[in-house]
Amino acid sequence: RQYKVAVVGATGAVGEVMLAVLAERNFPVGEIVVLASERSAGGRVAFGDDEVLVRDLATFDPAGVDIALFSAGGAVSKEYAPKFAAAGAVVIDNSSAFRMDADVPLVVSEVNPEAVKDRPRGIIANPNCSTMQLMVALAPLHRAAGIERINVATYQSVSGTGRKAMEELGRQTAGLLNFQSVEPEVYPVQIAFNVIPHGGDFDANGHTSEEMKLVHETRKILGDDAIGVNATVVRVPVFYGHSEAVNIETRDKLTAVRARELLQAAPGVEVVDEPANGGYPTPVTHASGNDAVFVGRIREDLSHERGLNLWVVSDNIRKGAALNAVQIAELVAAEG
Ligand code: A2P
Repeated sequence: RQYKVAVVGATGAVGEVMLAVLAERNFPVGEIVVLASERSAGGRVAFGDDEVLVRDLATFDPAGVDIALFSAGGAVSKEYAPKFAAAGAVVIDNSSAFRMDADVPLVVSEVNPEAVKDRPRGIIANPNCSTMQLMVALAPLHRAAGIERINVATYQSVSGTGRKAMEELGRQTAGLLNFQSVEPEVYPVQIAFNVIPHGGDFDANGHTSEEMKLVHETRKILGDDAIGVNATVVRVPVFYGHSEAVNIETRDKLTAVRARELLQAAPGVEVVDEPANGGYPTPVTHASGNDAVFVGRIREDLSHERGLNLWVVSDNIRKGAALNAVQIAELVAAEG
């Protein structure tokens, strides 16, 4: 069977890769509809070997769409996802609009694929990019040894913020190398040659919304509200690929050797862990443009009996967003 597939936000950093991944993986697309705002309607985007006309979401009739992939921000999802679902589409939403709703499944394809079936609203949520790669790496360890607590600091690339943020990093970098002064626009302070300990909005306790996504989404995906998560989200001047320095405390002792074995056998994971120059994954050398979640620096925590350290790197636009959304679409298509 062939599907009529809509991509909402098709001109964005994630939407463009959703189209590329649908084509690469030969998803059974009978008809593709690419949607964005009226700003880019009338333009064209690539889909496989074709160029497809961009249409205005506001005036598009969703009747007949089978599967809709949304990545145009939370406000667009809140307004339009229910309309597409009411018209009969299965909506796979990359925004945070519905992730924590009890009647919307939050799915990482390697971790809780069975959850896609329970979707009373016709909406399936794609997790936050940082949570996504963390879950692919930690779910197999959680099943084996029971994770009680996760301590994570992220090193997040600018593509996660969107196309304007990538342009800002490029512009500031070029400007500074040419002895020009630069003004921050997308980020609150200069991102080029800097690191910013801030993602999203601050809450009353001083945590950011990006940090709280790691707390809440982790518990929902692993189905375990007892897991403690302590997160610090940091933006770094990298274009593609998020990195995470992760420390876990497990119920049962997990040696580095055992963790390495579990991760080598885990779906979606590639272990790159040689204690030598370059024997670890980085955004540029491993993650960017690739599908896997790369794990290295696996070692026992000298300060805690049941503590383990890992370094987790993945392409935030691919596994962190577009690829997982398409993998969810494949799970839906497999239902027949
Ligand atoms: P547009 O190109 O028309 O602005 P990014 O995350 O890279 O910034 O991309 C955001 C995506 O969401 C773009 O494709 C953008 O389209 C789309 N978008 C933003 N606002 C709307 C809207 N109100 N209606 C439809 N698409 C939108």
